[in-house]
Amino acid sequence: MKYRIQEVSEKLQVPKSTIRYWETEFSDLVRPKRTNGGQRRYSNEDIDKLRQIKNILYRKNRTIAEARNILRKGNADIGKINWEKQSILLTGGTGSFGKHFTKIMLEKYHPKAIRIYSRDELKQHEMRQHFTDADDSPMRYFIGDVRDADRLKRAMEGVDIVIHAAALKQVPACEYNPFEAVKTNIHGARNVIDAAIDTGAKKVVALSSDKAVSPVNLYGATKLCADKIFIHGNSYSGPRGTRFSCVRYGNVIGSRGSVIPLFKEQKKTGKITITDKRMTRFWLTLDQAVELVINTLCHMQGGEIFVPKIPSMKIMDLAQAIAPECEIEVIGIRPGEKLHEALITEEEGRNTVMYNGMYVIMPNHSWWKRQNYKDCERLPEGFVYTSDNNDEWLRVEDLREIIHSSSLWEEDSAYKLLSTIHKLNEKVILNMLNSEEGIPESGGRLAADR
Ligand SMILES: NC(=O)c1ccc[n+]([C@@H]2O[C@H](COP(=O)([O-])OP(=O)(O)OC[C@H]3O[C@@H](n4cnc5c(N)ncnc54)[C@H](OP(=O)(O)O)[C@@H]3O)[C@@H](O)[C@H]2O)c1
Repeated sequence: MKYRIQEVSEKLQVPKSTIRYWETEFSDLVRPKRTNGGQRRYSNEDIDKLRQIKNILYRKNRTIAEARNILRKGNADIGKINWEKQSILLTGGTGSFGKHFTKIMLEKYHPKAIRIYSRDELKQHEMRQHFTDADDSPMRYFIGDVRDADRLKRAMEGVDIVIHAAALKQVPACEYNPFEAVKTNIHGARNVIDAAIDTGAKKVVALSSDKAVSPVNLYGATKLCADKIFIHGNSYSGPRGTRFSCVRYGNVIGSRGSVIPLFKEQKKTGKITITDKRMTRFWLTLDQAVELVINTLCHMQGGEIFVPKIPSMKIMDLAQAIAPECEIEVIGIRPGEKLHEALITEEEGRNTVMYNGMYVIMPNHSWWKRQNYKDCERLPEGFVYTSDNNDEWLRVEDLREIIHSSSLWEEDSAYKLLSTIHKLNEKVILNMLNSEEGIPESGGRLAADR
């Protein structure tokens, strides 16, 4: 997301003139982009830095020079990974997340090696064909099951970073095959932890889900167990130093089994089914999910759950965007389904901070020190993060543009589809921001700046 100075000023409760002043004083830390018309556009990272500056100057009563020193020295070693020296193992690497993560890593970060670990040879074959298979390719493909501890350990030899994305994730399948869900999602998580510690991996990030928050179905419950054992994996690793953190996010736009393909199919019949008209959901793109994992790897201490700041949508808005002419049949909430999803509960909220554009839920361990998060923003008492109390929403017209302006929905390649949707989504969000523009700008300065 990119924000105008007016929005930043409102978010931080700081006058625009002060923001401009800080921007000059901390020009190596706060670097808003300029539009063609010269308007400032602040990223989440810029806003996070401005928050830290405000915190140090206002709450700690430090001078500008002191604040500069603190910010420059404080976390000097955080946020930097020399990717070219990293060997990465990705369980579930042939899934939606895994393929997109691989694409971004190959395009932007050039790691030493990426090992894909999954069961199905056909998916690996397709992935091998999609990504280069030249002799110097960093890609390696391991057939294996996360239930198989020995195989995992062999595959992890020499690996620095592990991303654990493999899971059984379809709610009905997990309900109907509960022991299989336990074996893959819980025992598999334990095997990943053991193998990572035994082989000396440095960082492990596990992908969790909003379904793991106050779970109402077995899928969510297995993910909650997995989260807990990953967080406590830090206690097991002891002096070996393997660090474990989780990321937690909501629905990925257009992922397999999501509501969009269902509504589009139902639209042909003139009637779409909705379980409850009040329902809301978080939405994020695959790019955002990958970015979250990369940020987590850069900033994790071990023990945290990282949650992205993402928009919500109302199910009725989605129905309106996809099939405005259709009759709506309300079929009632299904077993294992929630009216609204939560990413951070009130209990977790007490231990959560805003850091680098992400929410970070800190562990409750007595030994855990907030070394990386000293200058983060604290959240108000009673903070919860649920899809119905979000301050960012996708509106009908945003959703409509995401869905209707592309014929790619008809393509059978979910991979291409999701990348395209992300681009559209970015455009929609930018359009949304632009539509809120007050006075047009001229002469390279934002009208509101003056
Ligand atoms: N998609 C969403 O909306 C969403 C939202 C929140 C969180 N998440 C989480 O994000 C992660 C990735 O999701 P995704 O959408 O990429 O899932 P996906 O597309 O269904 O991919 C799942 C991957 O896991 C592999 N896998 C499944 N069982 C395995 C096993 N026993 N051993 C080894 N590999 C196994 C699959 O390959 P094989 O079948 O070939 O083994 C596939 O590569 C999951 O942990 C999920 O819980 C997803």
